[in-house]
This record gives sequence, structure tokens and C-alpha cells, in this order.
Amino acid sequence: MAKSASFSCNACGAVTSKWAGRCDSCGAWNTITEDAGLSSGAGRGSLGAKRGRDIQLTDLATAEPEPPRAVSGISELDRVLGGGLVPASALLVGGDPGIGKSTLLLQAAAAFAKTGLDVVYVSGEEASAQVRMRARRLGLADAPVRLATETNLRNILTTLEREKPQLAIIDSVQTMWLDTVEAAPGSVSQVRAAAHELTSFAKRNGISVILVGHVTKEGQIAGPRVVEHMVDTVLYFEGERGHQFRILRAVKNRFGPANEIGVFEMGGAGLEEVVNPSALFLSERGQGSPGSVVFAGIEGTRPVLCEIQALVAPTPHAQPRRTVVGWDGGRLAMILAVLEARCGVPFVGLDVYLNVAGGMKVNEPAADLAVALAILSARENSELPANMVAFGEISLSGALRPVSQSDARLSEAQKLGFEGAILPQGGKLDQQSMLTLKTHADLGDVLNAYFDNN
Ligand code: TYD
Ligand code: MG
Repeated sequence: MAKSASFSCNACGAVTSKWAGRCDSCGAWNTITEDAGLSSGAGRGSLGAKRGRDIQLTDLATAEPEPPRAVSGISELDRVLGGGLVPASALLVGGDPGIGKSTLLLQAAAAFAKTGLDVVYVSGEEASAQVRMRARRLGLADAPVRLATETNLRNILTTLEREKPQLAIIDSVQTMWLDTVEAAPGSVSQVRAAAHELTSFAKRNGISVILVGHVTKEGQIAGPRVVEHMVDTVLYFEGERGHQFRILRAVKNRFGPANEIGVFEMGGAGLEEVVNPSALFLSERGQGSPGSVVFAGIEGTRPVLCEIQALVAPTPHAQPRRTVVGWDGGRLAMILAVLEARCGVPFVGLDVYLNVAGGMKVNEPAADLAVALAILSARENSELPANMVAFGEISLSGALRPVSQSDARLSEAQKLGFEGAILPQGGKLDQQSMLTLKTHADLGDVLNAYFDNN
């Protein structure tokens, strides 16, 4: 007979087929409980005992038009959603506590409500009076959004079923609890069960739900990571606490391009859209200082320019420091190794600091060349021409590899008043660029062209 139940650990989320006093994965005691949800009841019946319901199959081909998306009018949000909110979809908005998720979603709720969408905002963290106070501060006090303060998911689902709103916002999924799950709110089992109930409820009833999820830096409490595969769209709200810039990034989207970003600025009156992020990321740039290079990047479907800053200094430590903010530390190590091994530029006894200005996070390998140039410029204490941008991937041999969407990168640079670009040789360009293009085959060539005193 098939196994009918599964158990999971409330601490680490490991799934087992039988109960145990101690979790094999994380070693915690008394954390294994049977998985159950409202829809599945307490444990599932075995397949042999009960036949399933016959489901209707439908054709893939259909003449029905796609249901229209709800557009909030906050264009940075709509673009990240892939052109608006898809009806009956489930979204997760994750981010560090205090980064501005509740603010963003209250503004989104108000914007959707003003277009005529029926929106319910359920807070498990703040009293309705607190939410109202924030709405007043944001100038949204008259938005037709309905509020509730509740953490019991059974009550929330009953209410939503009666009210049938078009959009329900649940802030946050960590505060929700199901009475069928024997674990504390915020534990992996509760978060997973709550997210499962809410997403399947959304699909059944044609309601869109937006779940808010806190992620901690250490990831030690039940992060919403377990929820990511259940929802249609995962957005991360990121930014440095000391900066006003906030970036909403689609890391998964079943209805649009992933990696699309929306840029906001946190001000006294909430989040404001940043229509031209390149101009913003470059606004604090000091003109032509050693170690500063502008990278022409692509985020989702849009070119974004940002400044890469490097500092190379003699180290007082036995082990030199390698510190990166906004880029991948492993990739930095690779570039330093390539510079050492292929170009004979040593970094022994030197600390290397790398920073993407403005709190931006860059994931593209296309930033390799800009990073290498910033490091070389800092090391040689020699500035690069300030009116140039750079992009290109670096291979382990030190060769420069062309990257995608060069045309878009160049035209954004031109729009922002740059006059030239440093890029790999051999890339295909569809349009003739107005910029002065300096193409190079490998890093050695780059070194000779800009740092020939070496
Ligand atoms: P919040 O939306 O409560 O964060 P989260 O829900 O992600 O935990 O935002 C909290 C921070 O935002 C808080 O430090 C104050 C700041 N803030 C502003 O700067 N301006 C504003 O208009 C609002 C509402 C918040
Ligand atoms: Mg909040």
C-alpha cells in the first residue's frame, strides 16, 4: 500500500516519511510533525481506499482571449509584473525587514483600488489604525482599500470567500497560522502551509493574492524560500538601508521577463518612482577619479548604467581583504586571478574593495570588463577617460567576450551624454553607434591601451 502521510521538520523543513523524535537533517528535537492543511484534512487517505474525482481535460489551443491584466499606474511596478497584475495569480514580495515592503504594497493597493479593482489588505503585523496612519502619511487616506488585522488563516479565507475581492494582500506570510499545523507562526511548516492554502485559494476563487515575506540576512528563520516554487511570481525588494534607492526585482515570473527591475526612491512621502535609473545611479559620481568606471548593464529588458568603484591599497594584514558590495565575490576573485596570471599584475599584499554605487546589485558577467578596468585604474592610480562606458565578459584565458544587447547598452550611454565605449572585439552591432568605440581582444590589450606605464 502506498504511504499516505508525510512528516516535516518545523526547524529546517526536511521531509521524512515517518515521525521521529529528532530531525536527521538539522538535529533539532521534537520538531517533526505530520504535514496537513485545511484542504487535505488531517492526513491523506490512501489511494486504494478512495477513488479520485474525474477531472475534465481541456485543449491547449483556445480561442479565448487572455484575461486583461490590472495596471496600477505605478509604471515601475507594472513593468516588473510583466505589464500588470494577472488575474488569479499568486505573488510573493520578499525582502529584509524595514526595507519598505508594507509601504510599497499599501501604495500598490491604493493605486489598484483607484483603477476600480476591489482590494483587501490584511495585516498580521500592524493594527488597522497603524495602517491608516501610514496611508495618511502617504496621502492615500481616501483610497477605497478595505483593511483587516488578522493572523488566523481560516478566518481570513472565510472572509475572502464571502467578500470575493479581486486582489488580497497578506502582510506578512510569516505572521499567518493555520490551526491544523502544530508549529509556531513563522516556522517553516506554518509558512509553507499558509502559502499553500493562500495560493490554491487564489486559483480556486479567481482572486489574486500578494504575499509579503521577510527574509533575514542569515536566513535562519523560515524564510519565504520554501514558498517561492508555489507562487507564479517572486519579486525581491532590495536596497541598502543607508540609501534611499530601492529596487524591485522579478526573480521569477510566469507571466513576464525575469530579472526585470523597477527603481524607487524612499522619501518622506513613501516610495517614488525613478523613471531614469541610469541618471540616478550616476548622479553622485565624482568626475574622473581613479578606480571609477561606468558599466553599461542590462537589467531585465532595460539598459541601466551604474558606476563601479574600486579601491586598491597596501594591506596591514597577513591575509589581504577582498570586499565586494553589489557584485559577486567569487567573480571578483576570478578577475584578480586572471589579471595576475595572464597580465602579470600582482595583487599580493594589496587589499581590494569593490563597490557598485547607489546600492545597485549587478549579476551580469558583462560587468567583468568594467570591474577589471576599475581595479586596474585604482591600482595604477590613473583615471580612465570619464566620458566612456565599458562592458564585456572576461574568460579565464584573459580574452574579452562580446555580450548580448550591445546596441541597447550603447544607445543608453549615448542618451546620457557619454562619448565613447570600451568593449570586446568581434561583437555584432545592428546599428551604427555614434559613440567612439574602443574594441579590444584581451585584457593585455586593454592594459597596453590605458595603462601603458606598467
Ligand atoms: P516598511 O514598509 O514598514 O518596511 P517592511 O514592511 O519591509 O518591514 O518601511 C519601513 C521603513 O520605511 C521605515 O524605516 C520608515 C521608512 N519610511 C519612509 O522613509 N518614508 C515613508 O513614507 C514610510 C511610510 C516609511
Ligand atoms: Mg511590514
